[in-house]
Amino acid sequence: MMLTRHLILNPAAALLLATAAMAAPAADTSAGTQLEYWSAQAGAPGQAARGQAFFTSRHGGEWSCSSCHGTPPIREGRHATTDKSINPLAPAFNPRSFTDSARSDKWFRRNCKDVLNRECSAGEKADVLAYLLQLKP
Ligand code: HEC
Repeated sequence: MMLTRHLILNPAAALLLATAAMAAPAADTSAGTQLEYWSAQAGAPGQAARGQAFFTSRHGGEWSCSSCHGTPPIREGRHATTDKSINPLAPAFNPRSFTDSARSDKWFRRNCKDVLNRECSAGEKADVLAYLLQLKP
């Protein structure tokens, strides 16, 4: 309580807080940067053709990445069970795509578990990014 009152009464602190709140959702990365990162982690450059095969395959389960993101993932997708719309995944068709590393990590983890029953490897992420970056209008 003391802290809250202090911040409200102190204009400099309030301004600092407002600045931090505005900066929070800002982009911290890009699809190209993430491709470099995962290629480095995998020890080999991502390959678009392999990424495409990975993206469209069901891996023995019920869904592929395409089930929700579409083939190719350049338009709004539809969630396979909830039917909610999903923004285009390919960066050339969605300026917000892959610009927030926490968001990318969260969805990679969740979606890979849904499709593969495990997390995607660094090499698989690099391949998917190479594929997505190659999709152009
Ligand atoms: C059951 C539906 C579903 C499947 C299957 C699915 N996704 Fe997703 N994915 C989503 C949703 C929903 C979002 C959030 C999209 C939004 O914000 O509009 C998302 C977002 C993402 C993002 C975040 C993009 C960013 O801007 O950082 C990545 C990466 C991703 N998916 C990769 C995959 C990969 C790889 C597969 C296949 C292994 C896959 N997804 C399969 C539903 C799915």
